[in-house]
Amino acid sequence: MSKSQFGMIGLGTMGRNLVLNIADHGFVVCGYDRDVAQQQRLIDEGAGKQVTVATSLADLVDKLEKPAKIMLLVPAGKIVDAVLNDLVPLLQKDDIVIDGGNSHFTDTDRRYTQMANSGIHFMGMGVSGGEEGARLGPCMMPGSNLSSFNAVKNILESIAAKTDEGPSVAFVGNGAAGHYTKMVHNGIEYAMMQLISEVYAVLKQNGITNEELAKVFAEWNKSELQSFLMEITVDIFLKKDDQTGNLLLDMILDKAKQKGTGMWTSQSAMDLNVPIPTIDAAVSMRYLSAMKEERVTTSKKYAVGHKDHAIDKLELIKTCKEALQFGWVIAYAQGLQLLQKASKTYIYDINISEVLRIWKSGCIIRSAMLTDLRKAYLQDSNLSNIIQSDLFVERLNKLRFAVAKFCTAAIQTNEPVAAFAASLNYFDAFTKAQLPVNLVQAQRDLFGAHTYERIDATGNFHTDWK
Ligand code: 6PG
Repeated sequence: MSKSQFGMIGLGTMGRNLVLNIADHGFVVCGYDRDVAQQQRLIDEGAGKQVTVATSLADLVDKLEKPAKIMLLVPAGKIVDAVLNDLVPLLQKDDIVIDGGNSHFTDTDRRYTQMANSGIHFMGMGVSGGEEGARLGPCMMPGSNLSSFNAVKNILESIAAKTDEGPSVAFVGNGAAGHYTKMVHNGIEYAMMQLISEVYAVLKQNGITNEELAKVFAEWNKSELQSFLMEITVDIFLKKDDQTGNLLLDMILDKAKQKGTGMWTSQSAMDLNVPIPTIDAAVSMRYLSAMKEERVTTSKKYAVGHKDHAIDKLELIKTCKEALQFGWVIAYAQGLQLLQKASKTYIYDINISEVLRIWKSGCIIRSAMLTDLRKAYLQDSNLSNIIQSDLFVERLNKLRFAVAKFCTAAIQTNEPVAAFAASLNYFDAFTKAQLPVNLVQAQRDLFGAHTYERIDATGNFHTDWK
C-alpha cells in the first residue's frame, strides 16, 4: 500500500471509527495505539479497506506522506502531553498534529504556543457525535489558524456530517477556539439533557408511562424540538432490559457521571462574568444526583407528602413542550453569549453563525432550532444574546407563560426543576429594567465602603451610613 495520507493515534471507539470513516472516503489511513489489542481490532475492522496499522509512533510517522497529518484521539490531559512529547521529535516542519479529544482550552493554548516555534502545526479540534458520528459523519470544530485548516480541509470536509448548507466542519477561530467551542457545545448539551430529564420527571409523576412518553417525544420530534436528543430519547423510553424484561430506563441508577466539560463551561463563564445559570444548574444537578446515598437518607427526614392536584394530561403535555422549547432557546442563548464573550476576550474571532451552521448536523446538540438561531447571528454577528434578537422576542414572550406554569406544577409536586427555574429566572432578570441590587450596593457600601453609583448623577459615591 502507498504511504498513508492521514495518521490516527489512539484507536479507542472514536479513533477506530474515524479511521474507518476516513478510509471510506478514499484516503489511505494509518492507525496506531500502544495497546496491541486495539491495533488488532483496527486490523480486523479495517480488513479490505485502505487501512494500515503502525506498531510504534516512529513506524506511524514513517508510514505517512509528508507533510504528515496526524490526529490524536487519546484521553484529555496528561496523556496528550505524553504522546506529544514522544511524537514531536519524530516530526518535521509543516507536519500537522490535530488534537481531536475534549482537551481543556487552556491546555490547547499552551500546546499551540509551544509548538508554534517548532514549525509543526498544532490544531485543537472539537469533535462531536459519539461513536456513530465518528463512523458516519461527525461535526468538527477546528481552531488554530486558517493555513493549518486548509491543509486538512479536504479530508475533514469529506468525512464530516453534511448539513443543508455544507459539511459540518469549518475553521472556527484562532488558537484554542475549536476546543473552546466544543466545551461550550458540551455545556449546552448538559443543559438540554437536564431540561429533558426534568420534563420526563414531571410527566412521569403525573402518570404518563414510558411508552406514552415515547409517543409524546416522537411527536415533539416533528416540531421545533426536532433534534438528535429527542430522537435518541424516544428509543431510550422503549428499550427493554435483557436481564429483567423491564424497561431499561427504569433499571438505571439515578446517579449521573460527567467527564468535566460542563463544569469547565461554568468555570470559564464565571471567569468571563457571563451568567449561564441553566448550564450551571445542569452541572450542579449531576453533582446532586451523584450524592445518591445522602439523598436517600435525607429523603426520609423530609418525607413531605405530595400535594395532589387535578391535572389535564393533554394540557400538561402541551405546557411541557412549550417549556422545553423555551428552555432550549435559553440554553443556546447562554452558551452563545459565552462563546461571543470568549471570542472577543481571547481574540478567537469566532464566527458564531458558522458555528451554528456546523452544529446543524453530526453533533449532539443538533436541532431544528439552530436554523433560526443562525438567522439571528447572520442578521447581527455581534449579537450579544439571542433574547435580544427581534426574531425571538415574540416566541419567548409566548413561551414564558408555559415555563411558569410548568415550574408551578413541578413545585406543587416537590419535583425539582432546577434547569427550568434557572432559565425562567434568567430570562425574567434579563428582560427586567430594574433589579433589586440597589439594596446589595447599599449594603456593600455600608459595611465595606465599596461605593455605589446613583441614578441621578455619574461617578462613585460613598455614604456614612451610621
Ligand atoms: C459529543 C459529546 C462527547 C462527550 C460526552 C460525555 O459531542 O460527542 O459531547 O464529547 O464526551 O457527551 O460527556 P459527559 O461524560 O461529561 O457527560
